[in-house]
Amino acid sequence: MIFRQLFDKTSSTYTYLLASRHGGEALLIDPVFEQTQRYLKLLEELDLKLVKVVDTHIHADHVSAMGKLRDETRCVTVMGEQSPADVVSMRVRDNDPLTIEGLTLTALHTPGHTPESYSFMMEDRVFTGDTLLIRGTGRTDFQNGSPHEQYHSLFDRLLKLPDNTLVYPGHDYKGDTVSTIEEEKAFNPRLQVRSPDEYADIMNNLNLANPAMMDVAVPENLKQGLRSSAQHRVAVMEVDEILAGWPYQDCHFVDIREDSERSRYGAIPNSIHAPYGRFDQYCNSSGPLSGLAKSNRVLLYCAVGERSTLAVEIATELGLQNVAHIPGGFTAWKQANGPIEEIS
Ligand SMILES: [Fe+2]
Repeated sequence: MIFRQLFDKTSSTYTYLLASRHGGEALLIDPVFEQTQRYLKLLEELDLKLVKVVDTHIHADHVSAMGKLRDETRCVTVMGEQSPADVVSMRVRDNDPLTIEGLTLTALHTPGHTPESYSFMMEDRVFTGDTLLIRGTGRTDFQNGSPHEQYHSLFDRLLKLPDNTLVYPGHDYKGDTVSTIEEEKAFNPRLQVRSPDEYADIMNNLNLANPAMMDVAVPENLKQGLRSSAQHRVAVMEVDEILAGWPYQDCHFVDIREDSERSRYGAIPNSIHAPYGRFDQYCNSSGPLSGLAKSNRVLLYCAVGERSTLAVEIATELGLQNVAHIPGGFTAWKQANGPIEEIS
């Protein structure tokens, strides 16, 4: 496994790079905007293809590099389903697997620092974002934080992981890099409490100043996604237009979401499945989509229209004509009460 812990000095943020092998797929957790070129250089040096970028929550102390990395690499942006960000390519729920080639992380919803805070478990380690820090915990006094929720996230979720689980936090202000669940249980001063109320008492009396970057970072991090106008930079077909002519015979619907999303939410009836992670293989000269595009329009869709915007660009670059996508994706389709086929 390739594992790197990258530090941003200004915000004391840790960013994690994960991959199973040189030449394979990579994932970044909590990248910082100002470090984007450093990540891209390292990915190139290690011969890695960035396929997913995860933010554990909406950060208040730095601007995320999620949107910038998507623009540079066409990777998939990931957050928890509770994220207030308007457009995120893929949303995970509690206990969902998050996969790249050769690696699986498990999403753990650990609210408290913010309602949408997630931790991610992988084999012997857990990435705790700002929920559990080394000898500390993330503040709960802004962004709809809740010390009671955080207490449960800590005591009922994270501290129940095996004692030898390595703890990799989202920040450290003293230069510590890693801890374990056992160490934190024993030595983290915030965890030496007997009740949620006692914990809340500590958290409600920290009297911390707001992060210097907060007024810039939060609004910026809420709008990293490819919104409607960006989704219209490629050929589109709107949900209303499709439904007005339903059953729509004049195009091939192509679902580019992952299996887990299809089985959870269903799909547009009679869609072909061409997952975004291997999308270029579907578009090359021997791939199924290049043949289909010759007969009829190929209409791509994903969850919210972000991946499908990028997929239209990929298809076009690979020489396919007659490819468009559905802005707003399957979410817009569902909102308009479009017919749905269950996928087992
Ligand atoms: Fe935070």
